[in-house]
Amino acid sequence: MTATVGVCVVGDGAIAQIHCRNVAANKNCQLLYIVGKTPSILKSIAEELKATALEDIEDALKDVRIRAVMIASPTVTHYEYIMQSLRAGKHVFCEKPLVTKPELVQECFEEARARGLHLLCGFMRRFDRNFSRLRASILNGDIGTLQLLHFSTKHSMAKLSDPTSFDMYHEVLSHELDLLCFFSGLQKPSEVFATSSQFPPPAGLGLPNSTPDVLVVVLKYEAGLTCVIELHNNVSYMYDQRVEASGEKGLLVAENERESTVASVSSDGTPSLSRSPEFYSQRYADAYRKESEHFLNVVINGVQPFITFDDCYNVAILAEAIKTACQTHSPVILK
Ligand SMILES: NC(=O)c1ccc[n+]([C@@H]2O[C@H](COP(=O)([O-])OP(=O)(O)OC[C@H]3O[C@@H](n4cnc5c(N)ncnc54)[C@H](O)[C@@H]3O)[C@@H](O)[C@H]2O)c1
Repeated sequence: MTATVGVCVVGDGAIAQIHCRNVAANKNCQLLYIVGKTPSILKSIAEELKATALEDIEDALKDVRIRAVMIASPTVTHYEYIMQSLRAGKHVFCEKPLVTKPELVQECFEEARARGLHLLCGFMRRFDRNFSRLRASILNGDIGTLQLLHFSTKHSMAKLSDPTSFDMYHEVLSHELDLLCFFSGLQKPSEVFATSSQFPPPAGLGLPNSTPDVLVVVLKYEAGLTCVIELHNNVSYMYDQRVEASGEKGLLVAENERESTVASVSSDGTPSLSRSPEFYSQRYADAYRKESEHFLNVVINGVQPFITFDDCYNVAILAEAIKTACQTHSPVILK
């Protein structure tokens, strides 16, 4: 990469701050603006990173130095920011879920295509070294035909800034659904089964009472592949993200990351393992950095985006189908 591009980051929450720091540390671009709605945080991060704080995106979009906008504000704001930025001639990166309605995913990508601009969605798990390796093994035929994919996720949810618009199927599950498309090569399932249970949500997080606490999904594919996703929200004792892929010739397992692989046994015989990261910001720190490098590489050098319209569209369709299966207590058949 040679040229330097001006970047505007939209949002001043947890994930926006990760993107701001990665952009500020990248010598191929310059973080010029941060757009946010929490003045105290916005001012502090903008001062730290020597960027201009804005409460409105308009001035950033008028600035010809801005070639790229990275949107990391709440999901309900994504559609407007994507369209505004594309119409102003800027390339766009947007956090997942891009938008929740499949038809709006289509509209956003059509706008980008019509203007010759790039639109990339932040499915950062694709940049995780373990998941990349697991996929490469599947593609290499190491386990023969892929027959069963199993995702196990346990995590605790952060405090929500806007609980009313929170949709767990799109907000949380979209990561597993994206990896499923990534590993299986975009095959669409023919049948979707899902069930969920609710426990009282932890106080203070602002989670809607209807948010599933435990969610189990089974997706069946015509080619024979079965995928099982187990998601346990509000688990405070660990951050667990494992994947197993089994095929006719073998098994691949992506285990949790650990600080080190050194295990110990104390004098009373108690075994212990090195700690795993406790939150997404630690677990995927390297993946977020690679993701923003990839976006800049797309903008500056025109490399093919690693995440496409089909990926975002399929994730939105699957999240909706799983929500329907849970709410109607019946399987959903996809054409
Ligand atoms: N890829 C990932 O791993 C990941 C992780 C967390 C969140 N996300 C996604 O990132 C987005 C933001 O999530 P978050 O957890 O950082 O949110 P958050 O609740 O931590 O922060 C929201 C912030 O957005 C700001 N904001 C509110 N309205 C705004 C507007 N109109 N314009 C600009 N800023 C506005 C608020 O000031 C607040 O600080 C969501 O779409 C979420 O799904 C992705």
